[in-house]
Amino acid sequence: MRVEVLGGGPAGLYFGILMRKAFPDAAITVRERNRPRETFGFGVVFSDETLGFLDEADAESAAEIRARFRTWSDIRTWFEGEWTVSTGHGFSALSRVALLEILERRAAALGCELRFEDEVRDPAVFLDADLVVGCDGVNSLVRERFAESFRPKVELGRCRFSWLGSDWPIDAFTFLFVESEHGLFQAHAYPYDGERATFIVETHEEAWRAAGLDGASDAETVATCERIFAGHLGGHRLIANRSLWRRFPTVTCERWRHENLVLLGDAAHTAHFSIGSGTKLAMEDAIALVAAFRAHGSGDVPRALAAYEEARWLDVAKLQRAAQTSRRWFESSRRYRAQAPVTFTFNLMTRSKRITYDNLRARDPELVAAVDREFRRAWRAGAHAAGGADVGEDFQLGERQGVAGAVGPSGVAPSPSPFNESRSQLLETEKVEDGLPAPPPIFTPFRARGLVLRNRIVVSPMCQYSAVDGEVGDWHLVHLGSRALGGAGLVIAEMTDVTAEGRITHGCAGLYERAHVAAWKRIVDFVHRSSRAPIAIQLAHAGRKGSMLHDWSFTDRPLTAAEGAWATLAPSPVPYDPSGPPPKAMDRADMDRVREAFVRATRWADEAGFDWLELHAAHGYLLSSFLSPLANFRDDDYGGALENRMRYPLEVFRAVREAWPAAKPISVRVSASDWFEESGAGTTAAETVVFARQLGALGCDLIDVSSAGNVPESEPEFGRMYQVPFAEQIRYEAAIPVMAVGAIQGADHANTVLAAGRADLAVMARPHLADPYLTLHAAAGYGVDVEWPDPYFPAKPRRGR
Ligand SMILES: Cc1cc2nc3c(=O)[nH]c(=O)nc-3n(C[C@H](O)[C@H](O)[C@H](O)COP(=O)(O)OP(=O)(O)OC[C@H]3O[C@@H](n4cnc5c(N)ncnc54)[C@H](O)[C@@H]3O)c2cc1C
Ligand SMILES: Cc1cc2nc3c(=O)[nH]c(=O)nc-3n(C[C@H](O)[C@H](O)[C@H](O)COP(=O)(O)O)c2cc1C
Repeated sequence: MRVEVLGGGPAGLYFGILMRKAFPDAAITVRERNRPRETFGFGVVFSDETLGFLDEADAESAAEIRARFRTWSDIRTWFEGEWTVSTGHGFSALSRVALLEILERRAAALGCELRFEDEVRDPAVFLDADLVVGCDGVNSLVRERFAESFRPKVELGRCRFSWLGSDWPIDAFTFLFVESEHGLFQAHAYPYDGERATFIVETHEEAWRAAGLDGASDAETVATCERIFAGHLGGHRLIANRSLWRRFPTVTCERWRHENLVLLGDAAHTAHFSIGSGTKLAMEDAIALVAAFRAHGSGDVPRALAAYEEARWLDVAKLQRAAQTSRRWFESSRRYRAQAPVTFTFNLMTRSKRITYDNLRARDPELVAAVDREFRRAWRAGAHAAGGADVGEDFQLGERQGVAGAVGPSGVAPSPSPFNESRSQLLETEKVEDGLPAPPPIFTPFRARGLVLRNRIVVSPMCQYSAVDGEVGDWHLVHLGSRALGGAGLVIAEMTDVTAEGRITHGCAGLYERAHVAAWKRIVDFVHRSSRAPIAIQLAHAGRKGSMLHDWSFTDRPLTAAEGAWATLAPSPVPYDPSGPPPKAMDRADMDRVREAFVRATRWADEAGFDWLELHAAHGYLLSSFLSPLANFRDDDYGGALENRMRYPLEVFRAVREAWPAAKPISVRVSASDWFEESGAGTTAAETVVFARQLGALGCDLIDVSSAGNVPESEPEFGRMYQVPFAEQIRYEAAIPVMAVGAIQGADHANTVLAAGRADLAVMARPHLADPYLTLHAAAGYGVDVEWPDPYFPAKPRRGR
């Protein structure tokens, strides 16, 4: 078998080594344009968990690599004039030159032919080999030459960075966030041998230009960066090596193979340097490719290449996602300037979501305890919310608070409650004093207007499709009642429609008939009587997503006339489901009627005793479809520019706010993005920031941040906590408290989001379907003493039992 390897970096060399081990007869030529060990970059860092794969693949080179490693376990962060140290991490690094030297020696010893100073100019000339491996790095010629097959995409990061070295003697991963006269400069530094450290400098475009670094030579880069970081370097030097300022290119390819040619490493995919995994990915690619040949034999190249791609793409995609998230964090780091150093450090540690609150707590309990204390302190000082609405105060948790309390909304005392009995000994740990251990952030209360939530876990609204003619019944009583008993800080009842035509399905809940008020009141009264959870209603109109048949496989389709279809309303006469009839484009009379229906439902919701109201302006329902240019094609004052698309939703909000008691909070659920952020074709996060600001000015207390739903073509990047970045953007840019929702998979994620300052409340839907007692279970898991419903008291976990 004749193999041509184009590029002699870690991917190519490691592939050569492993392939010769697996197929000693293979004739392998590695073509590298540079001279031996003439390379860019300084050190290469690996996190602890990445090392096992090296031992398994080739123990000889792994032993040599290990022998050259510098290892450490601390991450030190300089922010706002303070060092914060996090421990319990495991890192190893070595110089890139040393790594290449080891791999080159081993490849040559195993019989690979290494041809240095051999620049490949046309990869096509090698296609007569049995196998061609394109591993010529981030600017791959091979990838460009066969771009039609690989269909590559390159997304450039917003920051500028330069890869430098230093003789700064550090013994930990070191992040420096330094405010210069030009703006924020951040350094990612780590030791890689006894004398040297990698020192990557990253900054925002404006600061980079202001510092005169556009077009800077290596010497100028060094001089400027030495000046900016002089306070830390203490006279030590920075070193350049073709340290051009670049924007990080994230490379993705739809395919990694073309006939007998395959891409490996940076040529196929890149991962931002802030997660230090590019070399690992490149070497893992080599392992997977050789494993595919082992499995399928050297005689069936296409099959082996297909198997390689199949085996690798998911892991690579996951890592690239984490790297993108990490890159974006550094691009947005300026927004965290007001955070306390310990919070900022937690935020930094958890930025890519690979480390969560619980992970970090296991690694570094002291740091997380400090984060908890700071969270509690900030709440008590009223300093939490970006918008300032979360006014902290020292209140006694033993007393029922706010409008969900002992006096009902209409001034009538609710029926006797088991919670009227004082059980202050169980609540002692909830009354945390400054300086003492604080519970995890989810157990810190939250105030909105006259209401105090005992904790920050929220049950997300979930349609139950079990109402009859809009009227809720026993199912809803048990469903909502058990979630309230489960200890959540707030329970939001499902999407409740303000008119009959505003329902999605025949089974949707409504508040459009008088009789609906009593049905809801029964549930609200139960929740108030039996739990400390306030309960919210989510008022909605389904718009063009109405008149659907619900089935329990959750694949709804438009109702037929025989099934009782009804006419729907929307901003424009375009159906959501192309197979359905077009909705009626609303005229002014329709708009007035629907707005008044929202107002009537608001008054009735107050009468039923709800503590909180959420206006549903998400998921493609009526208000959401007014906001989205993918559903709103009007050419009057309610379509076109954002200002016009917001007009009707804001009109409805204003009317609802006026009708809702001043002491009770209102949140608005939004689809922050239609997920066409690049083209800007749909609602964008930036537009939603503008909408959120306007809502805030009109008296909205929180934005509940969801996404998508306006058109079936939206493709959300699903993943853990995937909508949190939108929530965070709105929180900081619109200066309003937010609830985050979407794949927050339990208390650990909720704490991660809250402790980092990404949201004020953590909302969970499906986790609460699986576990109504999620909050009580979380409290038991963290050893936090919270109140249990009296009848369940015997089952409450107690210390020493
Ligand atoms: C600032 C920065 C910091 C980084 N830090 C880390 C880190 O700490 N840890 C980590 O794991 N990764 C890190 N990386 C990523 C890492 O450098 C790459 O992911 C890794 O080197 C990829 O290996 P590769 O073999 O695919 O590509 P490369 O290492 O780029 O090797 C490609 C080789 O192909 C050669 N070549 C290119 N074109 C031709 C041609 N036409 N003909 C012949 N030869 C050619 C090049 O000279 C080069 O030697 C960092 C990257 C950057 C930008
Ligand atoms: C069965 C079900 C019903 C839902 N009904 C509603 C609803 O009535 N209103 C709403 O805004 N979102 C609704 N959603 C969306 C959820 O509130 C939530 O935003 C989404 O499920 C993501 O959160 P999760 O990952 O915690 O499930 C529903 C979700 C599910 C699973």
